[in-house]
Amino acid sequence: MSGTEPRRTQPPEASGLRPHALRCDHRTTPLGTGERAPLLGWRLAADRRGDDPAAYRVRVAEDPGALADGGRPLWDTGRVEDPDALGVLYAGPPLRSRTRYHWRVTVWGAAGTGEGARTETGAAAGPGEATSWFETAFIGDGAPEWRASWITHDPRPVPVMDAPTEGERALDDHGLAPCPLLRRAFTATAVTRARLYVSARGLYEVRLNGVRAGDAELAPGWTDYTRRIQYQTYDVTALLRDGENVLAATLADGWWSGFVGFEPRRAGAHYGTFPQLLAELHLTGADGRTAVVATDATWRTGTGAVRHADLLMGECHDLRHAADGWELPGFDDRALRPALVTDADHRLLVASVDEPVRAMAELPARTVTRTGARRHVVDFGQNLAGRVRLRVTALATGARVTVRHAEALDDDGGLYTANLRTAAATDVLIGDGRPHTVFEPGFTYHGFRYAEIDGLPELSAADITAVALHSDTPWTGAFACSDPTVERLHRCVEWGQRSNFVSVPTDCPQRDERLGWLADAQVFLPTAARNADVAAFFTKWLRDIEDARTPEGGFTNVAPRLAGVADEGAPGWGDAGVIIPWHLYRTYGDPRFLSRALPAMRAWVDLIRRHNPDLVWRHKVGPHFADWLAPGTPTPREVVATACFAHSAHLTARAAEALGERATAREYHRLAAAVRAVFTERFVRTGGEDRTGGEDRNDRAGLVIEGDTQTGYLLALAFGLLPADRTDAAVRRLAELIESAGPALRTGFLGVALAAPVLDSYGRADLAHALLRRTEVPSWLFPLRHGATTVWERWDGWTPEAGFRAPSMNSFNHYALGSIGEWLHRGVAGLDQRPDSVGYRHLRVRPRPGTLTRASARYASVRGTAEVRWERRDGVFSLWLRVPPGADAEVYVPTADPASVRESGAEPGHDGQVALLAAEPEHAVYRVASGTYHFTAADTVPERPVPDEPLTLVGSHQEGTP
Ligand code: BGC
Repeated sequence: MSGTEPRRTQPPEASGLRPHALRCDHRTTPLGTGERAPLLGWRLAADRRGDDPAAYRVRVAEDPGALADGGRPLWDTGRVEDPDALGVLYAGPPLRSRTRYHWRVTVWGAAGTGEGARTETGAAAGPGEATSWFETAFIGDGAPEWRASWITHDPRPVPVMDAPTEGERALDDHGLAPCPLLRRAFTATAVTRARLYVSARGLYEVRLNGVRAGDAELAPGWTDYTRRIQYQTYDVTALLRDGENVLAATLADGWWSGFVGFEPRRAGAHYGTFPQLLAELHLTGADGRTAVVATDATWRTGTGAVRHADLLMGECHDLRHAADGWELPGFDDRALRPALVTDADHRLLVASVDEPVRAMAELPARTVTRTGARRHVVDFGQNLAGRVRLRVTALATGARVTVRHAEALDDDGGLYTANLRTAAATDVLIGDGRPHTVFEPGFTYHGFRYAEIDGLPELSAADITAVALHSDTPWTGAFACSDPTVERLHRCVEWGQRSNFVSVPTDCPQRDERLGWLADAQVFLPTAARNADVAAFFTKWLRDIEDARTPEGGFTNVAPRLAGVADEGAPGWGDAGVIIPWHLYRTYGDPRFLSRALPAMRAWVDLIRRHNPDLVWRHKVGPHFADWLAPGTPTPREVVATACFAHSAHLTARAAEALGERATAREYHRLAAAVRAVFTERFVRTGGEDRTGGEDRNDRAGLVIEGDTQTGYLLALAFGLLPADRTDAAVRRLAELIESAGPALRTGFLGVALAAPVLDSYGRADLAHALLRRTEVPSWLFPLRHGATTVWERWDGWTPEAGFRAPSMNSFNHYALGSIGEWLHRGVAGLDQRPDSVGYRHLRVRPRPGTLTRASARYASVRGTAEVRWERRDGVFSLWLRVPPGADAEVYVPTADPASVRESGAEPGHDGQVALLAAEPEHAVYRVASGTYHFTAADTVPERPVPDEPLTLVGSHQEGTP
């Protein structure tokens, strides 16, 4: 967590460092951690330049009073001199299960102790302090303290709550069963603390006295349930009453026993065949006495209104089956069946490490269009993942309302559902004559912008809402620029993330797939990690990746692992197991991302080496997706694979280096160098020796990478595979290929993520801008002209000439091509960290204006908020920036006239916090300390700024306002 660079000192009066955003294992006040040594982290804010931390102290105590000076905390780090600290791993006495711990961080500024320092107002500043808490659940994985048993509803028919009904046509063909209801009544008095620990093999929703516990959706989340099952913790103290109480749960199949993926021979029941519940309610009284209500054979079970619920197929509520009051005290449950105990195996239980899926946004109907006597199509104006909430009045007994979902409309204004493949994505409500009903499914989600409501003669926009669901990853990034279409692209990228971060990072939310594809996630991670704090989300998914590994130690193509999807990781897919931990470490500075992953990283690279002794990766390539979905000439498979091999070996070496494992680092650096040499030897020819085209298409200094595709050059340049004296020629050839194509890309999932960053870092940001702002196929902006609100799977998912592409694989909400998002932040706006920086310790601010007139990016980094804003106006380039405490920045002011540069209106460096590093032809480079700065300079950017017009939609297949 710390580096060794010496820190500058600051004027003694500068203090007022404020720790904030305290986190425990990357979460805010987590209720129910199972970690023995959680990471306690904080961010910093300050008002003055160079106000940097020098030392911290962390105290942890059960009694918050013990955190005060002079108190006796459980653990006290004492004052630790570490200017780079982002947090500290708890290393005190063993944490107890089911206990709340309070903790306080104190941060001293670099001026000294902080004590006695003065603020601007003259008041004593003192060190900055902030307090937070975390609470343990069951410490350790599979803790032996559990007493609950797994229980379920006995599937044999139950007369009272399960009367057969006329006209019911549940999605029988799919063999879906009614959702089990499970209840347990108990008495309690004077409870002062109640915690519910709960999980399901399947999905659960729990209520205490009719009120829902927490707001998690689709809990306990998706893992390989044969390896690991998460549980969640809820504080239900406020829901208890004196006297009779009822704990009640509804279960659904979810990923456990429902439909997942696309394999027709194994469409459902991947992990189990019927859902089960496990719960413990721990009660503490005012007198300190404790009691536990746990799932066991005393629970009563039946079924009710939810006739089936499935992630892909949808959900059916038949109100005629509603068992009114079943979740409340006073309900006569004698006619229900006793629960069936399946087992009491707790070994796989783990406290969840991420925030759950929650209902994160509600979108009103934009338009409601009548398409039949009792049928309407609703446009929510945004493609999303979630479900519809519908208010219905007076639905006759047995009358049926059907809600179908789609991402697009067909030519007749009806839903286009062919691309959902076998996902029925259909929710059904069957009435019982009640005057008012609110219908919102609880155990399914769909990918849609449009919904068709069939069965209601009238539908008002006020009666229908779309509810967006996704894993709760706090938003950390913002981007804006002068081109509204590029801003809209960024919104599409954000919605792709929201729609696909649903317990695991999925490829798409709509069709019968929704799998955690590794390559999609690795190419999108840099963008995702700018938009949101995904540290906890990926901590969980890295465990899924680990769980999914093959017996030989290889990474897979999807995680959690799913029968029916080829296991053996393909190049670029399996490599995600190496790339993702490395990127998380660089972003969040938490070395556990590397220490937990390093053995698997090594095993992966070793496996490739073992099966490919000549270092050309051609064996053990799994389903080799190569540069998936690239239009035009495919990049040779061995070129893609060997480049990935070199990259994985290199990152494994760097991970070992970061962890101080020097011998391991040397071993993998050597391997990486050997693979790079083989890459050059086998696949790189100078112009005269071009094997691929036969002709000499370059001058002697030119170079051709086998296949001569854009992705070939991008991989070689991005991964540093070429000898230094060959990179210029490779950049030239790459630029030629892009220019002669449009300028346009011919890249697939792997190449696309590299295009703008590579062009930028090799001096062709102009070309990256040309690609960014292109509006014809293939381009990022083409779909926007046709009403897209999320990034498509294919560049040409729909064209005016050909209409929809083949529905077998044509999602309109895939984030892989949205990997451009990161470059908008770090290239266009120019907010980046140096390649050697970890946890935003050293920022690099280097705007790439292109023809834009302004851009900005903000990022709540792990160290504190970083921000860049620039504008070109009247021949002046203005650049504002904020560098968080504890960081510094290298600032590239784009001007050929360094003498014109001013900082806050004066000569740069007037206050000792700005130093000129270099004056280069295109920019003057400064180093600045933490704080806020405003540079101005003569605007000599070669591209003329062009004020932008809003985009005009043409030939949209998606009606309504984009
Ligand atoms: C998914 C992709 C995935 C790919 C593997 C597709 O069906 O939607 O995003 O990476 O398969 O090639």
